[in-house]
Amino acid sequence: MDKERKLIIAGNWKCNKTVAEALVLVGDLKRELAPVKEVDIVCCPPFTALDAVSKAILDSNIRLGAQNMGENGLGAFTGEVAAGMLKEFSVGYVILGHSERRQFQKESDALIAKKAAAAHAANIIPIVCVGETLAEREAGITNAVVETQLKGSLTGLTSEQVERTVVAYEPVWAIGTGKTATTAQAQEVHAFLRKVIGTLHGDTVARRVRIQYGGSVKPNNARELMSQPDVDGALVGGASLEVRSFADIIKNSI
Ligand code: 13P
Repeated sequence: MDKERKLIIAGNWKCNKTVAEALVLVGDLKRELAPVKEVDIVCCPPFTALDAVSKAILDSNIRLGAQNMGENGLGAFTGEVAAGMLKEFSVGYVILGHSERRQFQKESDALIAKKAAAAHAANIIPIVCVGETLAEREAGITNAVVETQLKGSLTGLTSEQVERTVVAYEPVWAIGTGKTATTAQAQEVHAFLRKVIGTLHGDTVARRVRIQYGGSVKPNNARELMSQPDVDGALVGGASLEVRSFADIIKNSI
């Protein structure tokens, strides 16, 4: 597939996998995906498996991501993990503002923006998630919702930082439900998000920023989704937990 932007496909393991299970999965993925050069491949295990996975993928084309981080540096922040600590394990990406964190931890756009700035300061690429609920889509306010989330979550970043940020469009109603946005629905929102970035940071940044789709991405829908002009990759939940489905999503996307 011929795109100006390199595809980036990330597995969000969420709260799954023991260290032993994580090592089996990345061992299998390394073998399956060794020849793949066309896609940036990222695995995002839970914090507890970062150390082991980091060592296991040293000599591979798989990069490491975390699923969250604290907005502050070191200090009296019980329960937090700081960007500098992630760097110890060669973490290159961090998922921020996932809808599950927006919902269960009540994360706000302002908080996500602080985390994104802290990630960039540590040379970690944030994967900033936005997406509407089913009620919001049915009310016809999808664009307004994702525009507010995107602008709020990128506040304070420089244009250079925004260009390196990965945006993930994840309609909440498509996460873990087996319902995927149609390719037309995904493309429409992706094009809109790119336009919003263009308004804020200019055409070059908008053209270069990568926007992933997330929400029930499977081997059988990956190719069609990735073929959309403004879809630059996927953020995969359930299907990233098995070698066969994650590897096939990547292979079918090329
Ligand atoms: P599913 O692929 O399980 O729908 O999850 C998507 C997601 O939330 C990825 O971050």
